[in-house]
Amino acid sequence: MTQLQVRKMRFGFADHDVPFLWNETNPAFSAMANAVSFLAIAFEKMIVTTMAEAKPLLTEPVIAEEADAFTRQEGQHSMAHRQHARGLIKAYPALKETLDAVIAAYDELVETKPLKYRLAYTADLEATFTPVFKLMLDHDDTLFAPGDDRVASLFLWHFVEEVEHRSSALIIYDGLVDDPWYRMRVAPSIFKHVMDVVRLACDGFNKHIPLEVRKVDAVSTFALERRKNQFLTRIGRRPDYGPLANAFAHLPKREMAAALAGIVRSQIPGHNPEHEKLPVLAGEWFDRFDAGYDVTQWYTAGKKVADV
Ligand SMILES: [Fe+2]
Ligand SMILES: [Fe+2]
Repeated sequence: MTQLQVRKMRFGFADHDVPFLWNETNPAFSAMANAVSFLAIAFEKMIVTTMAEAKPLLTEPVIAEEADAFTRQEGQHSMAHRQHARGLIKAYPALKETLDAVIAAYDELVETKPLKYRLAYTADLEATFTPVFKLMLDHDDTLFAPGDDRVASLFLWHFVEEVEHRSSALIIYDGLVDDPWYRMRVAPSIFKHVMDVVRLACDGFNKHIPLEVRKVDAVSTFALERRKNQFLTRIGRRPDYGPLANAFAHLPKREMAAALAGIVRSQIPGHNPEHEKLPVLAGEWFDRFDAGYDVTQWYTAGKKVADV
């Protein structure tokens, strides 16, 4: 029986303006998270479509149940990120074009790639989340806490649920495709697609958001892109979108290396996400949720109670 719980969240994005620079202490991380929001809407929409196609083929009830709960969690994520994106688009209407382009990139994947490939895409990308999100959640004090609490709480919720369902996509892939080598073989094209879409989102931010607001080139956080873009800007092949900064420059190198090793490990056949080291914050989040704490205002709800 699946352990997954479907939690419905509303973060009050319509209540007041949603800032692009939602964590003023870290503009590169702010831009990265906004790009992840755009990507999440499109990727998770693709997951929902793909799982609907997969469902009639899942004969094992345990796997069918896992797929159902997994899809419902992803559907909730996608919906919440849409609220976030809507707030950003309200302030910068041209971003609608960017969001549409990101969604189109995943719609094209649904139209042109077989089910097997999309199941591998989902399993490959989802497998990287636990080591990457552990790094971020282990440093929530600098990455999330100083920011707009709605945006911060959206990401905490999403990331802890990604940790919670870290094995789902692989269970479904193994249940239907059961070919670990295919998954590894297509990984380079999958991660190229992910990076192409990230670039699409960041280029849109660079074009439509003034530098005074975003403070840095939106692509800053993605290290490989950063290096390539520095070169392209220097030789005049890419506009100068502002300074490039590293959102994770302040994190311990050892932990960065552990996250990177985790990403590589996650792609190797036989990898079992169940055995991953988990972020402490995830456990704390589930406990607080079960205790009825307002997790949609993770950093300010407790404070408000204390203020009364
Ligand atoms: Fe998700
Ligand atoms: Fe997920």
